Amino acid sequence: MPIRILVIGDIVGRPGRQVVCAKLPNLVREKKVDLVIANAENIAGGSGITQNLFHKVRAYGVDVVTLGDHVYRKLDIVPALQSSERIIRPANLSTQAAGRGFTVVQTSKGVSVGVFALIGRIYMNLPSDDPFAAADRVLQTFPRAVKVTVCDFHAEASSEKVAMGHHLDGRASFVFGTHTHVPTADAKILQAGTAFISDVGMTGPYDSVLGRRKDRVLKHMTTNMPHSFDVATNDVRLCGAIAEIDETTGRALSIERVEVAGENADGPYDSDDARGPSQGGGE
Ligand SMILES: [Fe+2]
Ligand SMILES: [Fe+2]
Repeated sequence: MPIRILVIGDIVGRPGRQVVCAKLPNLVREKKVDLVIANAENIAGGSGITQNLFHKVRAYGVDVVTLGDHVYRKLDIVPALQSSERIIRPANLSTQAAGRGFTVVQTSKGVSVGVFALIGRIYMNLPSDDPFAAADRVLQTFPRAVKVTVCDFHAEASSEKVAMGHHLDGRASFVFGTHTHVPTADAKILQAGTAFISDVGMTGPYDSVLGRRKDRVLKHMTTNMPHSFDVATNDVRLCGAIAEIDETTGRALSIERVEVAGENADGPYDSDDARGPSQGGGE
């Protein structure tokens, strides 16, 4: 029996958290999902994650949380990064950076799945090592018994993401992109059997500029003057992709995009987890 893995793109603020809470359990049941991986680097007020929010999304049914350039925006998460096998940061950061770059978890069917995260180097603010070499190292580190592997490649440039898909083709089961907050229409199975999509899009308010209030971003872009980029609240969607993977070979059999519309959010921030809006600098 193949396993079905759902990946979810950058969960943004309270709107993103609420739509995951409201829609994920049904989605998992309807689509017979065996494992859920979600990038939650924007869940705390738009940048970063707290321990409280990590435990919340775990309770909603997210099995593994991945993070990107906003990994350390809320230092509250550091103890969880150091102690939990259910949350990972990009593997190609400094060897001294808190947390782990990969993990192995079991599905309810007892299948071991290796999950790792990487961050791109093109148009990204966070200095990092070569993600291609880091991917090779991570794959060599997984025990031989781990046939199914999933990579969250958190990067800005489509070229770097597509290149990573081909670099890992036949060696990783599922390579999905995050960070741009805009879903792409290129989901496919690559030649050697890797399920790939450049970006699954954000899980958050789409009546916005990448999750932030459009009036604020426009004001900044048209005047050059600083404006705080508060999280938006409307047209909330959960975006991701589901890949079906043969658990004996690790090859992907299918991939489909997922987009579930939710309610408009009742507010942009979770009271105890938002420490004020941030100002630009990439998602
Ligand atoms: Fe990001
Ligand atoms: Fe993001």
